[in-house]
Amino acid sequence: MKNIYLCGFMGCGKTTVGKELAKQTGMSFLDTDKEIERRSEKSVSEIFSEYGELAFRLLERELLQTISGDESLVVAMGGGMIIPSCNSDYASKTGCVILLDVPFEECYRRIANEKTRPLAEQMIENELEELYWCRMKNYRAAAEIIVDANCRPTVCAENIKRTIMQRKGSF
Ligand code: S3P
Repeated sequence: MKNIYLCGFMGCGKTTVGKELAKQTGMSFLDTDKEIERRSEKSVSEIFSEYGELAFRLLERELLQTISGDESLVVAMGGGMIIPSCNSDYASKTGCVILLDVPFEECYRRIANEKTRPLAEQMIENELEELYWCRMKNYRAAAEIIVDANCRPTVCAENIKRTIMQRKGSF
């Protein structure tokens, strides 16, 4: 099995669903934010504040290039990772890109009071909603499969598994 890349807006559940999917399939799980933090020994917020967003985006690209050589990984991508076309090309060539579709209001409810996401901290609700709709175009264009993820993580992971089986005949 090639990699499974979960994309979608902050708060759509990529990490939670990804862990559940990995458990259900026996695949390995990787969270790109956590991996960047492990490699750089800094939090995402520290990277943003000390080096700027662009530096973080370069780390994302470098990580994607590394993991796209792997197989059988469930990858929870940071919400901005799939946006550059070179990143979405890498992901599509090396795996199946899945969009976790969750309404903005629900994403916002989950991220509003979190302190770990620099963009969510910098922006007010209207700006985040604008970013959501702008990003949604990229997510939809990049995704091979779109799943309704406004449900329990176990159910969402089962739906992903079933859809991949239907589309590809095997898992
Ligand atoms: C970002 C999303 C975050 C993290 C960083 C930037 C974004 O990940 O990569 O704060 O640009 O949408 P999550 O989507 O896991 O919150």
